[in-house]
Amino acid sequence: MRALFVALLLSYASGSGKAAGASGAKGNRFVCTAVPAGTDLSCPVETTNRVQSTSPQEEELRNTIIQLRETILQQKETIVSQQGTIKELNSKLARCEADARSRGNARRKDYSKNTMGDLPRDPTETVEQLGKTMQSLKDRLENLEQQLRANTTGGMFPNELRDLLKRRLTDLESQLLTRVAELEEEKSQLYNETTAHRQRTENTLNSLLERITELEKSNSAFKSPEDFKVSLPLRTNYLYGRIKKSLPEMYAFTVCMWLKSSASPGIGTPFSYGVPGQANEIVLIEWGNSPMELLVNDKVAQLPLAVSDGRWHHICITWTTRDGFWEAYQDGERLGTGENLAPWHPIKPGGVIILGQEQDIVGGRFDATQAFVGELSHFNMWDRVLRPIDISAMANCSAYMPGNVVPWVDANVEVFGGATKAALEICEDRLFDS
Ligand SMILES: *[C@@H]1O[C@H](CO)[C@@H](O)[C@H](O)[C@H]1NC(C)=O
Ligand SMILES: *[C@@H]1O[C@H](CO)[C@@H](O)[C@H](O)[C@H]1NC(C)=O
Ligand SMILES: *[C@@H]1O[C@H](CO)[C@@H](O)[C@H](O)[C@H]1NC(C)=O
Repeated sequence: MRALFVALLLSYASGSGKAAGASGAKGNRFVCTAVPAGTDLSCPVETTNRVQSTSPQEEELRNTIIQLRETILQQKETIVSQQGTIKELNSKLARCEADARSRGNARRKDYSKNTMGDLPRDPTETVEQLGKTMQSLKDRLENLEQQLRANTTGGMFPNELRDLLKRRLTDLESQLLTRVAELEEEKSQLYNETTAHRQRTENTLNSLLERITELEKSNSAFKSPEDFKVSLPLRTNYLYGRIKKSLPEMYAFTVCMWLKSSASPGIGTPFSYGVPGQANEIVLIEWGNSPMELLVNDKVAQLPLAVSDGRWHHICITWTTRDGFWEAYQDGERLGTGENLAPWHPIKPGGVIILGQEQDIVGGRFDATQAFVGELSHFNMWDRVLRPIDISAMANCSAYMPGNVVPWVDANVEVFGGATKAALEICEDRLFDS
């Protein structure tokens, strides 16, 4: 702020040594003097100029005036310190604004956290405080006046001096009022500036959020209905995708998908199919340090697949009720086969396919430790065993076949709990990635 404190200094301007009260009031004024910071601010009233140096009345008035001046200085300091707070806040806001601009492409969550810091203290608090101070000063002045009035009858005090003092008190009061009004004005201006700044920052953030939301919306209109992926970034029991379509009764199936995960230990559950009475009708899971497993009707086969290197992989699993024969493919290559996995069991219809979570009851009771973490796409299902050549053609990007019982299409997949859909990298980029 200003380097100078404006201090209210009461001075008896008097060149003569005569008693001021007797010589007239004109030469006696309250003077608002600029004093450099750090100056000794003790009352400059010169004792030689005092009207009646021994009068206790004057002594008390003088003390009151000194107290008033100190009060004003304190108020000033309060305001100055609050201005410091507001300045600091302003610079915080400026940083926040700059950050927000420079991170235009960052995720939404970066904006949702509170970057505002502390808000300025309510200015009405200060104004109230000033009001209280004013009131107590007025009370004291009135009290003093009353005493003066009372003591006049005793003839102890010359009328002129009494009038002079009264005038001075009135002057002082009006100066105080002016100062308080000024301080209030200043405070209100600062508060308005801060408010305006915060408003601007909020507007900027809001428009950024709107743009991000629009971008996200336009993202959901994918180039074609199958060119999207589901992202499950956290191991939780509430992020998941759900296939709107159920399965018919089946005596064989092939399920294929693209996966990208670096979760450890175990990538979790890419998908599970639960039916009433059997939550583990079909489950693909890699849990803890176990290898990947296929469950059919709660029977288990261990699969020789390993995909948790953070790159895209294409996997397919085939199964037939005949002898419970199964095959496991990774990136177009058949890495394992087996039999006696739920042989002669027909896959039950009418259940729920969940992406990313293992179901303990149909469509629910997920377990965070079994959740899939990563990205998943082209989850397609057929009610037959696909040929190796079909599978390798899909895996090397030379063909794309939608599943005949579950095709991967945008409208068929819902996401929940913060799981998101995003555009899928083109097939060649996924290949290059792996
Ligand atoms: C007025 O007189 C009373 C006693 O009569 C005294 O207590 C009081 O301090 C006096 N007031 C002033 C302002 O001198
Ligand atoms: C601050 O804003 C209030 C309300 O908008 C207004 O009444 C007041 O005059 C403003 N003060 C200053 C100093 O601009
Ligand atoms: C992709 O796989 C199919 C089927 O196995 C094969 O005929 C084709 O040559 C492969 N293409 C490439 C580029 O590897």
